[in-house]
Amino acid sequence: MSLIKKVIETAAQVMPDRDRDRLIDEHRFLGQPLDRLDGRAKVTGSAPFSAEYPVADLHHAALAHSTISKGVIKSINTSAAEGAPGVIKVITHLNAPGMKVPKPMSAQGEPSAGVTEVKILNTDQVSWDGQPIAVVVADTEERAEYAASLITVDYDAEPGMNSFEEAIPSAKKPKQILGEDPEVTRGDPDSVFESAEHRVDLHFATPPYNHNAIEPHAAIAIWDGDDKLTVYDTSQFTAGTANSLVDIFGLKKGSVRLISTYVGGGFGGKGGLWSYNQLAVLAARMTGKPVRLALSRKGVFRLVGGRTPSQQRVAIAADESGHISAFIHEGVTAQSTDNNFPEQFSFPPRHLYSMQTYRIGQKVCEVNRVANTFMRAPGESIGTFAVETAMDALAYQLGLDPVEFRMRNEPEKDPVSGNEFSGRHMREAYQLGAEKFGWKNRPAAVRSQLDGEWLIGQGVATGTYPMYRMIASARVRISSDGIALIESSAQEMGMGTATVQTQHAAELLGLPMEKVHFEYGDSTLPWAGVAGGSSQTVSIALAVQQATETLLKELLSLAHQDSSSVLKGASTDDVSMAKEGIFIKGQSLVGETYVTLLKRAKKDFVVAEHTTGAPIEVMKYSMHSYAAQFCELRVHRQTGEVRLDRWVGAFDAGRILNPKMALSQFRGGIIMGIGMALTEETLFDDRTGRIANASLAEYHLPVQADVPSIDIVYTDIPDPHTPMGARGIGEIGITGVAAAVANAIYHATGKRITSLPITLEKLL
Ligand code: MOS
Repeated sequence: MSLIKKVIETAAQVMPDRDRDRLIDEHRFLGQPLDRLDGRAKVTGSAPFSAEYPVADLHHAALAHSTISKGVIKSINTSAAEGAPGVIKVITHLNAPGMKVPKPMSAQGEPSAGVTEVKILNTDQVSWDGQPIAVVVADTEERAEYAASLITVDYDAEPGMNSFEEAIPSAKKPKQILGEDPEVTRGDPDSVFESAEHRVDLHFATPPYNHNAIEPHAAIAIWDGDDKLTVYDTSQFTAGTANSLVDIFGLKKGSVRLISTYVGGGFGGKGGLWSYNQLAVLAARMTGKPVRLALSRKGVFRLVGGRTPSQQRVAIAADESGHISAFIHEGVTAQSTDNNFPEQFSFPPRHLYSMQTYRIGQKVCEVNRVANTFMRAPGESIGTFAVETAMDALAYQLGLDPVEFRMRNEPEKDPVSGNEFSGRHMREAYQLGAEKFGWKNRPAAVRSQLDGEWLIGQGVATGTYPMYRMIASARVRISSDGIALIESSAQEMGMGTATVQTQHAAELLGLPMEKVHFEYGDSTLPWAGVAGGSSQTVSIALAVQQATETLLKELLSLAHQDSSSVLKGASTDDVSMAKEGIFIKGQSLVGETYVTLLKRAKKDFVVAEHTTGAPIEVMKYSMHSYAAQFCELRVHRQTGEVRLDRWVGAFDAGRILNPKMALSQFRGGIIMGIGMALTEETLFDDRTGRIANASLAEYHLPVQADVPSIDIVYTDIPDPHTPMGARGIGEIGITGVAAAVANAIYHATGKRITSLPITLEKLL
């Protein structure tokens, strides 16, 4: 016990960036609203998506999908497809070679990418409608598609569990959820709740949602002989996906090179492993040709899962003074029979409010649907909808302003773990947001603002998202021309990875931005964990910091070899990396540039690589980001139409490293939340298990006209226990959004809507 404690203490000491306090005069880039380095390539179209790489003799694969949700393939007729023009191969479970089934992601997240046991033509069993059952390879995409349409199948169909509602009675408590207990309890919340004077008990329903990144999933697979493979893929986990392919195809470690440089959005939908890339690899192996498999939008709906549906109950009791006396949050999500991902909706209230008596937990049931997966702030998005709507309802019952009610229940320490918060400035976030929004001008009474036929309302909700850090490696090299090269297998998914890593490295090394090159998007580069859990920026930056420490030692030892060096005898603590070299602290004129140092030592470059340790800081501290979401909207009295008028998102996410890119991340999250609240919903036909709206025409993403002006404010208070003082910002934006909308609708109309999306028929 004491040893573990010591390890944690030591880790916590080395965590803060010792360079943060260093005086670096001219090269300060973190905190600046710099343009995206990949911006020009993106807007001019020269940044290729995975399907766009030019490859000689490229062949194309198309899929045939199952049309039942459960059963066995009795026979499959491929002769017409085989005889169709341009076709060189038709692959089914009958002629596909055996491949290892990728393992579902474990609690810790194994270094292979996978959340589901994907079906990859290794079985005659069907477990969801849309499962790929054949791959056709032809010389053009159109010919492959046409031939795939000629395949006929005879099934032994069985009744599938197609309906979430019907599966709920069979729900079970999972063993664990992302390494946490599925349920946490203290005291007897039911009896406290029953005897409380002030209480709400609400039931919520959230629908399944689908991923619709601008770039649909696609892969190009190129074999070089039997044992070397290159894949152009669109992945949030370049190195992990490569490892999975090694595993699945029984190859030697390091024999797969996966290129995933510019990813056209992921949001979690490219974090797990889906079958399209394996099927492309398989098709390429069986034909001896380079093969591209690019999913259509409909193909993404069929092959790639999205967010689970959920049913949740939130029951909260409070005493006369507005302090929470009992908190109950429970419910059910769905997962497919092939995967293991109970989306963690019960996580947010474990850290949000001061409470002594609680039961917070969840169950999961199985359905015959495509496997669910991560989707922006999995758990926190739907969990905060339920919790924050219930908090709003209880505030009204207590006659308290909803902001005031939350402030009265701000905890001193994490209410479940008892740990200190690493950095929690919820009050400041609320203050900033309320001021920007003009919250004090809001009339307390519901249904009290009318503008013609429109009822106006203002709502607020808390958002929260955990701080995660993944193990990462980075290589840092400085050459004798004074240029630094930073290498990581991470990909640029649209959030500004390359830019912020360049900012950080330039500041760390005391170089101008132009003299730092960040090389990424290739699995053969040093390991980067999945770009998930809003963790990528800090994870890589810590590896860069630690590699730089080694590099500095290396450079100093070179200097020490030369008696004429002004750095002779200086230790790492005596110097700063600044002004394109190494200088004695406090003596800005005494030092040497990297160019001078390396040239004199007759070295072309020095290089250092480092792998970070496990994120044990999260065992010591309760580490989370926070949001206060404010919205104003109008609801039409006759039609129930909801129009958003304005939004203020106030965030406490540690230090903001690039305000320009951060604003986009926050806004993007809020816009996804608006879709979740008002328009998006995957409609499963419970009779067949098929998705009925597998297109952008019928799956309604918010468009420009649905999105109000969004103001963003943030505390910008560095977290003392994270690299660079930053916490992740990719997912916090969506959290709390649906509740803020629902709460504003209540304020406008007096109607408490507890199911998403809030479509107009629910308001009539
Ligand atoms: Mo995020 S849903 O962890 O890509």
